[in-house]
Amino acid sequence: MVSNFWPAERLKHIKTSGIRHFFALATEMPDSINLSVGEPDFSPPRRILAAGSQAARNGKTHYEPTNGVDELREALVQKAFHDYGLVYNVNSEVLVTVGGTEAIFLALFGLVNPGDEVLIPNPGFVVYEPGVRLAGGVPVSMPLLEGRDFKVSVGDVTSLITDKSRVIILNYPNNPTGGVLSFDELAALAEVAVERDLIVISDEVYEKIIYDTAKHYCLASFRGMRERTLVINSFSKTYAMTGLRIGYVYGPRELLSILWLVHQYTVACVNSLSQYIALSALKGSQGFTSCMVKEFDRRRHLVHARLNEIGGFSCALPQGAFYAFPNIKAFGMPSEEFSEFLVRNARVITVPGSAFGSYGEGYIRISYAATYELLEEALNRIEKAVGKLK
Ligand SMILES: Cc1ncc(COP(=O)(O)O)c(C=O)c1O
Repeated sequence: MVSNFWPAERLKHIKTSGIRHFFALATEMPDSINLSVGEPDFSPPRRILAAGSQAARNGKTHYEPTNGVDELREALVQKAFHDYGLVYNVNSEVLVTVGGTEAIFLALFGLVNPGDEVLIPNPGFVVYEPGVRLAGGVPVSMPLLEGRDFKVSVGDVTSLITDKSRVIILNYPNNPTGGVLSFDELAALAEVAVERDLIVISDEVYEKIIYDTAKHYCLASFRGMRERTLVINSFSKTYAMTGLRIGYVYGPRELLSILWLVHQYTVACVNSLSQYIALSALKGSQGFTSCMVKEFDRRRHLVHARLNEIGGFSCALPQGAFYAFPNIKAFGMPSEEFSEFLVRNARVITVPGSAFGSYGEGYIRISYAATYELLEEALNRIEKAVGKLK
């Protein structure tokens, strides 16, 4: 019998994501409404998906270049120029990855030494903290506070930087808060990164899911930033292709070559058919994404208005992504207990804010990647359930 079934030392402080438990509840309770999902509830147009079957018929079922299919990299380089005026070299400054998730891991594994401090948003996407720890680094929380519209504060960043700080992770539009940053706010953060000589991992996977007059600016387009920024992006959210696992990262040659090395020995190359589907998504009309965002916008207003009508919740209007992050402190329960309460009493599944970090305590994340009718029903159920708490 094998008796040494224990995890490696590096996994010692890694816990299962707090989101998983609530995902599992959704499958256990078929009558529940699942508002915990982090993926669009739309399907990409058939024209885009057909590129996958066509590629298979064309025999594209073999290894592709490590950094990605040539035509896809060319299309990505054109996208960076078209959207942000950024010029990247097609051979050495763009890398196709297994979703944004792999790109984040490549950056952390390639750049973080044991003991290096990495500034991460708190609350923040669930991958950042374990990712930093697995790479041997020390996560340092940058609080995203409701009173500051969930924006990273330049003052906080400046005071958190030490001589061990090496990397800062920024994520706007933000998961889980729905916050975005203005041009001036990004410019101020960029100035600090340049002054303190930090590498920035800028997670921009929600770049196209942004509302009203808010505009997305790529961090690499600010003065002094192209040479120190890894721009992480993905097809998951923009084209509703989470399962195809395809993302990409732009960066200066010196940094990208490091990520390339890790990528080469971990995944060799990204799934070939997904790459042809992604290529097809970039070409031609982008109408699918704008229609999706229009519908998200309608739902955003519904969720925001209804939550604020229900006594006990107070909810800021999200400016990006497809999440609302209401304050639930008035209910006097920790967020995990409150999410459990909603599952048991309203049959509505949300994610406790604490799953995203200590500063997420006192909030829950509600994904509005569900139909308008389901959201209406879920909010009615929530209203009825919390009504009993009074
Ligand atoms: C902020 C953020 N970054 C990155 C990702 C990774 O997405 P994927 O690996 O599907 O591209 C997600 C997914 O939820 C996310 O919310």
